[in-house]
Amino acid sequence: MVCQQAFPATCNLRCLAFFLILLQCTAVLALVSAQEPSQTDRWPTLTGKPPLVIARGGFSGLFPDSSSIAFDLARQVSLPNVHVWCDVQLTKDGVGICAQGVKLENATDIATIYKKRSRVYRVNKVPTRGWFSVDFTYKELANNVSVTQGVYSRTNRFDNHGFAIITVDYLAKEIKPPGIWLNIQYDAFFTQHKLSMTRFVLSVSKRVKVDYISSPEVAFLTRIASGFKPTKTKLVFRFLGRNEIEPSTSQTYGSLLKNLTFVKTFASGILVPKDYIWPVDATLYLQPHTSIVADAHKAGLEVFASDFVNDIPISYNYSHDPILEYLSFVNNADFAVDGVLSDFPMTASEAIACFAHDLSRKASSQAKPLIISKYGASGDYPGCTDLAYNKAIADGAEVIDCPVQLAKDGTPFCLSSKNLTEIAIVPKDVGGIFSFRLKWNQIQTLIPVIANPSAKFRMFRNPKFQNAGKFITLSDFLALSKNAKSLTGVLINIENARGVRVADAVNEVLIKAGFDKQTSLKVMIQSSNSLVLRKFKGKSNYECVYKANGSIADGSDSTIKNIKKFADSVVVTKDFIFPELSAFITNTTDIVPKLHAEKLPVYVETFSNEFVTQSWDFFSDATVEINTFVQVAKVDGIITDFPYTAARYKRNRCLGVGKKLPPYMQPITPGSLYQFAENR
Ligand SMILES: *[C@@H]1O[C@H](CO)[C@@H](O)[C@H](O)[C@H]1NC(C)=O
Ligand SMILES: *[C@@H]1O[C@H](CO)[C@@H](O)[C@H](O)[C@H]1NC(C)=O
Ligand SMILES: *[C@@H]1O[C@H](CO)[C@@H](O)[C@H](O)[C@H]1NC(C)=O
Ligand SMILES: *[C@@H]1O[C@H](CO)[C@@H](O)[C@H](O)[C@H]1NC(C)=O
Ligand SMILES: *[C@@H]1O[C@H](CO)[C@@H](O)[C@H](O)[C@H]1NC(C)=O
Ligand SMILES: *[C@@H]1O[C@H](CO)[C@@H](O)[C@H](O)[C@H]1NC(C)=O
Ligand SMILES: *[C@@H]1O[C@H](CO)[C@@H](O)[C@H](O)[C@H]1NC(C)=O
Repeated sequence: MVCQQAFPATCNLRCLAFFLILLQCTAVLALVSAQEPSQTDRWPTLTGKPPLVIARGGFSGLFPDSSSIAFDLARQVSLPNVHVWCDVQLTKDGVGICAQGVKLENATDIATIYKKRSRVYRVNKVPTRGWFSVDFTYKELANNVSVTQGVYSRTNRFDNHGFAIITVDYLAKEIKPPGIWLNIQYDAFFTQHKLSMTRFVLSVSKRVKVDYISSPEVAFLTRIASGFKPTKTKLVFRFLGRNEIEPSTSQTYGSLLKNLTFVKTFASGILVPKDYIWPVDATLYLQPHTSIVADAHKAGLEVFASDFVNDIPISYNYSHDPILEYLSFVNNADFAVDGVLSDFPMTASEAIACFAHDLSRKASSQAKPLIISKYGASGDYPGCTDLAYNKAIADGAEVIDCPVQLAKDGTPFCLSSKNLTEIAIVPKDVGGIFSFRLKWNQIQTLIPVIANPSAKFRMFRNPKFQNAGKFITLSDFLALSKNAKSLTGVLINIENARGVRVADAVNEVLIKAGFDKQTSLKVMIQSSNSLVLRKFKGKSNYECVYKANGSIADGSDSTIKNIKKFADSVVVTKDFIFPELSAFITNTTDIVPKLHAEKLPVYVETFSNEFVTQSWDFFSDATVEINTFVQVAKVDGIITDFPYTAARYKRNRCLGVGKKLPPYMQPITPGSLYQFAENR
């Protein structure tokens, strides 16, 4: 396995090993880099070219912001022309370093190294205590201070690797990103300390190619404008909050936004927080887009949008799927922004190169994986309701699932748990909380409740659909499935203490609905009870799916051969394939190859869009997770709360028979990140 990659010079041996194994380097990356977003597509950007991906501090969603490893990873897993963003600060001796924020203690260990050297300075008129680069020589920083993870919700397991603060020159000469974007957030502050950002950017751009320089200060950009040719270095005016005051004009950024012809006199583009373009209301719902992109394009300005991250809840309209958010900025009916500033440049790259303009695509070249819903589209609606099933079908699920319970009167219906208080509002006068104590006509009147499996991380599913939909009987479920031309099957899950009795009731309904004879829909019967499966085994239109329990983990041949006696396929949870420790994948088991050797297809549950349900290894990106299970583990089916995301993966234009995988569609190597995080 060969990966032709450059390694950060500050990298130790482990770091080198890490880079070799993080990505499955089956193809040499140099060859792959020919894969760019389709240039034949028309992009409604200012130039007509695909939107730019700008990696803020490198891949800062995973590694410490502005560390060499973060910059290097961004370069390796993003679009071939990715630009890396460096927030420039100047040291006491005038060296330009990359550091997020003017207070160094945010994303470095400086406060523990130089305990007594914090100072209070005015930053944009506000007295601020902190460790400022103007008080340290470059040598003092380079030799003693390490960059660390500044965002508490991200893993700090890479902090002790001792990644140094790097200079702009080092970034350009050693890491060699395809494009460099320097952000000068505080020119006036450095001027107060007798350091000149103007002199720095003019001199550095003589030594290395600087593609973009952005700043929220009008005076700075007007001062340097004459020193740069727009064909070589573009200047971008950065908008801060609408009510914040721009220091040199004393106008608010909101009012400067109405004066784009003025902005055009000193800049060729603008950088705005993403909600300038797609505002989100206080309850996290998306409002109609503004006209900023059209207005700026009319004024001849490029528009870049900032603040894209995978690991902060986004508007409910995106169903926790960051790719949907990018697509709303680059692939809508009205405009495309000219670039996105992201902490997760791999996801931005996938969105632009693999998922934009895919509307008419079919999943033709890719038979796998089978997309199976979990309680319908239960990420968007209360599970097992008519709405959840209809959404799953519309979203491209190939199989929808009904976990069967029996009402007191014997009616089989779909419900994710027999404990009603978990999934419905149960009136006080209803006797008992278990579904088998109620008649179907009582259950029918219950108000369903949406599941919130990530509530303890304060991540919630769409509150507008909190109580939407109605529960349905098994026979309604079958009728609904029959009418859905896009389905290939139904999965009926029998997990009940009285499984055998339920199986008989299910069988009766199936016969009544004509599903026992060959229909266009395959019937999958799932259970962890072999007695249930044996009732259906051998019937031609039925597939018996064994829900594996702990005993399969030993993977002994006799266990697996035994499964073959009553099952045609197997469902396992994700950790049976990629065991985890502290949310890092530690290893890959051989369960799938063993089941495949017995010709048993393997379906995996449960895939969700909320990033907290995924291991760190997948970069908080549900598509990277699915891609890795499909390509590395070779699973046959994906069982998911969010069938849209899984079905879209199959339409992805970067996959296909005979296609070389671009780096952003390469699966990760399970276990590599854990080893890197562990051995420190
Ligand atoms: C930091 O680095 C400098 C230069 O290498 C060294 O002389 C100094 O002792 C170090 N300071 C601390 C606090 O470790
Ligand atoms: C550091 O900066 C990041 C990004 O601006 C911010 O989210 C975080 O809260 C800051 N951390 C601290 C300790 O100030
Ligand atoms: C635009 O801003 C410039 C500089 O602040 C100012 O001179 C000009 O009057 C403004 N134009 C409008 C239409 O607000
Ligand atoms: C976002 O979702 C809400 C609630 O479903 C809807 O009213 C609104 O129109 C959606 N916003 C956009 C821009 O589609
Ligand atoms: C049913 O679910 C509710 C809500 O999660 C829980 O508090 C209760 O203990 C459960 N009851 C049983 C018998 O499992
Ligand atoms: C797992 O399933 C097998 C086969 O149905 C059964 O024999 C075994 O007792 C189960 N083990 C556990 C721990 O539930
Ligand atoms: C990973 O799995 C393989 C094969 O199952 C095993 O030999 C190895 O010891 C495991 N490694 C770790 C770190 O668990």
